[in-house]
Amino acid sequence: MKGITAERVDDLTGFWSSGEEELEEEELILFDNVQFIYELALAQLELRSLGVEFEVTNGLREFKLLKEVDAEILKRKLAYFREIKGEYTDYFHITQKNRTRSVNQYLTHWIYPYKGKFHPQMIRALLNIIGLKKGDTVLDPFIGSGTTALEAQLLGINAVGIDISPLCVLQSRVKTESIEVLPLINEWKDEIQKRVNVNLFNLEKKSLNSEINKIPDEKVRNFYRMAKLVAVSDVARRKKEFSKAFRKNLELMVASAGDYVDVTEKLKLDLGSVDIRIGDTRALPLNDESIDGIVTSPPYSIALDYVTNDAHALKEMGLDPSEIREEFVGVRGKGEKKIELYNEDMKKSLEEMYRVLKRGRYAAIVIGDATYQGKKIETVKFVIDYAENIGFKLLKNIDKIIFGLYNVMQKENILIFVKGDLDLAEDKKYRCRGARAPKTCR
Ligand SMILES: C[S@@+](CC[C@H](N)C(=O)[O-])C[C@H]1O[C@@H](n2cnc3c(N)ncnc32)[C@H](O)[C@@H]1O
Repeated sequence: MKGITAERVDDLTGFWSSGEEELEEEELILFDNVQFIYELALAQLELRSLGVEFEVTNGLREFKLLKEVDAEILKRKLAYFREIKGEYTDYFHITQKNRTRSVNQYLTHWIYPYKGKFHPQMIRALLNIIGLKKGDTVLDPFIGSGTTALEAQLLGINAVGIDISPLCVLQSRVKTESIEVLPLINEWKDEIQKRVNVNLFNLEKKSLNSEINKIPDEKVRNFYRMAKLVAVSDVARRKKEFSKAFRKNLELMVASAGDYVDVTEKLKLDLGSVDIRIGDTRALPLNDESIDGIVTSPPYSIALDYVTNDAHALKEMGLDPSEIREEFVGVRGKGEKKIELYNEDMKKSLEEMYRVLKRGRYAAIVIGDATYQGKKIETVKFVIDYAENIGFKLLKNIDKIIFGLYNVMQKENILIFVKGDLDLAEDKKYRCRGARAPKTCR
């Protein structure tokens, strides 16, 4: 994977040199990659949630502050803004640490090509929007590739991530835990590399597996298991040669974990704790009202079969895809029955999210309608109706429209619910920020 190296970008920005140089004294400037209406909406919501009063100026890209703010706090937290009062935000520096060509695959986010990853910038904004602070705990009950956990960790928010897929649990752990054991990872590198010298695919992997299994530290072992799976995926999906793919990815993974350690030190980030567990969202292994916020994206594209999609990696992990699929939301059954089972599973998942969330706290759920056997399945309406039925109250429904491959339009919705019996003061705090607050707020 070729791309911008962190060093090159650091040279350009001059961040690691002493003075923050030559920025315009504009008050708040959006990142250049903010281009969709929903992103502008989220950018405004995150400012409001952080108590900022503002006016949009200069072609929608610059914002003027209407009241004095604590610029230091905003600099540490903001997701959609590159600069505040002439200084780069922390997020700007974080995103410069990118070993890939994709702007949103910085730090360890890129590790493993998982389909259906969240855009991390949106997650950082949502964590701000739902009012989570250092020391709070966010849950993503469908953690997938670990985006919510990594973004929460960066903001000092503790994260609990649950997924039914062992592959997802592994990748989420590796992305967030490898920084703790980087020196040990480096100690094992030569030994492991030696095992991929023989150019015979099976022999090579067998000897590699036995070497990886010898590693006593679980986090280090996970790191090398993941490196192997990234290479396995490169062989299956991109027809690459195993040993070359393994070596290249391993170098990049080590460098990305190093970037993460580096940026944590330079920005003095106080990282949140991360707890990633294998589990079923229909029966969450968590206590009632133990969670301060939920940010998640359940499976909704009934047509996208996560099990088949990752079958090669699951098999490599010694799992039987046909056995584990019965536990996965969205892939059980066929025809009409598939939709029935999906709805049942989603009801249980929403009930569980409701149970574990504290009262007056928020759940941000990203979901879209699916097309199955040529028919549109109204997943969004189904989720809103059922969530409201069990006591959630819908506060925001933002259309997330993007243009994907070949300019095909993709629409999803960002739904923000509050867990019922909302304390009126909290409600007012949420709705009454900014110039456009309704009259009832005054
Ligand atoms: C849309 S993906 C989440 C992607 C994630 N937001 C990310 O950024 O990578 C949905 C996830 O739900 C998981 N899943 C499916 N059924 C589940 C269940 N019963 N319990 C927990 N997780 C489940 C799948 O393994 C998949 O990773």
